Amino acid sequence: MSLYLVVLVVLYCLLRWYRERQVISHLQDKFVFITGCDSGLGNQLARQLDLRGLRVLAACLTEQGAEQLRNQTSDSLQTVILDVTKIENVTATTSWVKERVGDRGLWGLVNNAGICRPMAPNEWLTKQDFVKVLDVNLLGVIDLTLSLLPLVQKARGRVVNVSSVMGRVSIQGGGYCISKYGVEAFSDSLRRELSYFGVKVAMIEPGYFVTNMTRAEGSGYLQALWNQASPEVKELYGENFLADFLKSLNLLKPPWTQNLSLATDCMEHALTACHPRTRYSPGWDAKFIYLPMSYLPSFLVDLMMYWYYPKPAKAL
Ligand SMILES: *[C@@H]1O[C@H](CO)[C@@H](O)[C@H](O)[C@H]1NC(C)=O
Ligand SMILES: *[C@@H]1O[C@H](CO)[C@@H](O)[C@H](O)[C@H]1NC(C)=O
Ligand SMILES: *[C@@H]1O[C@H](CO)[C@@H](O)[C@H](O)[C@H]1NC(C)=O
Ligand SMILES: *[C@@H]1O[C@H](CO)[C@@H](O)[C@H](O)[C@H]1NC(C)=O
Ligand SMILES: *[C@@H]1O[C@H](CO)[C@@H](O)[C@H](O)[C@H]1NC(C)=O
Repeated sequence: MSLYLVVLVVLYCLLRWYRERQVISHLQDKFVFITGCDSGLGNQLARQLDLRGLRVLAACLTEQGAEQLRNQTSDSLQTVILDVTKIENVTATTSWVKERVGDRGLWGLVNNAGICRPMAPNEWLTKQDFVKVLDVNLLGVIDLTLSLLPLVQKARGRVVNVSSVMGRVSIQGGGYCISKYGVEAFSDSLRRELSYFGVKVAMIEPGYFVTNMTRAEGSGYLQALWNQASPEVKELYGENFLADFLKSLNLLKPPWTQNLSLATDCMEHALTACHPRTRYSPGWDAKFIYLPMSYLPSFLVDLMMYWYYPKPAKAL
């Protein structure tokens, strides 16, 4: 009996492995548009797909980032400067893409651009702090997706949304987790709607990856937030809280550096495989900590968080 079970599981794994290895043909005719290519995941993905022979249209936030990327890639990669929060910029970018892809349509749209700061206890923040993050990570992505969707439908292509494990467990205050929950919700409904038109939708939920951007941003913003906090908040949390909180943030990073390729390989698979997955969770922390956590009952997750984060001075 158990032997049959083992054989079945092995067969299933083999079948799945074989199915997932099937790659689409004519990669060199396929256009892929990626946002947030200045650094990090977007930058690495652009270079990786360019090497693979796809035609990459890379959106960067700065001309410097765009030039650096062009220097490192083949002539077929083209760049555009895009700020997803500016409606007229999104419109202009859509025409730019249309001119390039013509009748073939856009094979892939990768929504990668995003910011994560400020992340802090909600009470320390203002509405504006939330607006800033939601504008880029959620509304910007929605605007761009709606705008480019007709081109993707023409190619019966793919939409790859970069969410985060923090779209599964909200482990911190601030707009970031909210925006990623939003991306998850929107993608789920759109996946079903678009399946009627042959468009496949994949969601990437990476764990904690240290990139040049997160490194450069550092945690100085938390000190600034603390300095601006109201006297009531300062009294509630106490002077020692900030230092302990910063220590706990460092613990969130896995002690090993995760290779960005883990995430970009998933994105590449979502774009080039005949049968992409609906969800990918690159990173060991995502697979073994955050995803299992997202299936636990709330009281257990709460317990873990109580244990993990420092307590405010005036905690009861
Ligand atoms: C990150 O920084 C290192 C060193 O400064 C640089 O070599 C690397 O190309 C950067 N990576 C990205 C994706 O910008
Ligand atoms: C790109 O290459 C050009 C010419 O080789 C060089 O002048 C320029 O400084 C490079 N730009 C960056 C950002 O690396
Ligand atoms: C988007 O705006 C930037 C700066 O405002 C501009 O340089 C860029 O050309 C615009 N992009 C498009 C596609 O028009
Ligand atoms: C990706 O996420 C954005 C933002 O939530 C959403 O507008 C879009 O529909 C999603 N794309 C797909 C194909 O699910
Ligand atoms: C990351 O993985 C890729 C391929 O899996 C490898 O080529 C690359 O050297 C690795 N990078 C680092 C920094 O380990």
